[in-house]
Amino acid sequence: MTSKSLEPVRWRSGVLSVIDQTLLPSRLSYVRLGSVEQVGNAIKSMRVRGAPLIGVVGAFGLVLSLKKIRTNSLFEARKQLRKYADLLIGTRPTGVNLRWAVERVYNASSTADSVSSLHDTLAREAESIMHAELESAQRIGEYGASLLEDGDTVLTHCNAGALATVGYGTALAPIRTAVEQGKRISVIATETRPLLQGARLTAFELTHDKIPVRIIVDGAAAQILSRGIVDRVLVGADRILRTGHVTNKIGTLPIALAAKFFGVSFYAVAPVSTLDLKTDPSSVVIEERDQSEVLYFKGRRVGPKNVGALNPAFDITPPELVSGIVTDKGVAKAPYEESLRSLGKDDS
Ligand code: MRU
Repeated sequence: MTSKSLEPVRWRSGVLSVIDQTLLPSRLSYVRLGSVEQVGNAIKSMRVRGAPLIGVVGAFGLVLSLKKIRTNSLFEARKQLRKYADLLIGTRPTGVNLRWAVERVYNASSTADSVSSLHDTLAREAESIMHAELESAQRIGEYGASLLEDGDTVLTHCNAGALATVGYGTALAPIRTAVEQGKRISVIATETRPLLQGARLTAFELTHDKIPVRIIVDGAAAQILSRGIVDRVLVGADRILRTGHVTNKIGTLPIALAAKFFGVSFYAVAPVSTLDLKTDPSSVVIEERDQSEVLYFKGRRVGPKNVGALNPAFDITPPELVSGIVTDKGVAKAPYEESLRSLGKDDS
């Protein structure tokens, strides 16, 4: 962890705590998650969010599920673990890191030789995922910083920063590294309706690190891109397919379309743990969240009574709009089928 970076997840002597992101930016406080159900609820309610972070927290959630397992049979214990793994994976269906990390911890259970050794085996695996994700973020920073020049302005969407990861970030990692290299970078953050991850979280963490940031409403992105004041768009990703389709926070696709139209390069930035080289674009499940997130603002209803809402949480940007994909193993360019496969992911 760099001294400046926020620490969104802590695992100390078997105790899991996370920054409650629903309270930011007014309050920076940690909440302890003591059971697998509490972990599942924290992910679903987005007290923790961001693809790599929910992967890591889900991994520790599976470790915590061992508290509920009371049997001396390893076979029976693994059967119960499977049930908790599925419960965790089901909390947010779109991002690939959650499934990937939980499956890794579940699979580690096959190497334990007794029920009593399960805890240490699973905790070791979850810790190794956590440490690897932090190192990946720092490598992403190095690869991505080479795309940025002194004086650049970057537009980003949602929050793909330290708060969406174990620290340091994905789309914000190149910005942090470039600033550490002495480049002056400023950021334009879209507010990201309906839950305002851009206005609340990206603006909070960049200000925390003294990186200049301005907020725009989502609908202003095309107008801002048309003015020629944005040098690069950098966004995170929740799932990147072998075709180069990028699934990310709802509102990413219109930014990519506008960037293409106005000739601004658009990069997705993610660790290889976000790659899904198996699924076809038409099979990606887009999480549909509660209508109340759209219909209410700060507890007050904004639309007339009896009007419903659609609330897809993610969209999919096709590869034609993607200038490149920055990962912890290098920058992939089209044709993505070849370039992404050569980066590799252990289980894809
Ligand atoms: O719904 P969220 O806030 O979990 O969505 C987060 C995003 O879409 C991020 O851009 C993505 O997870 C990349 S984070 C490094």
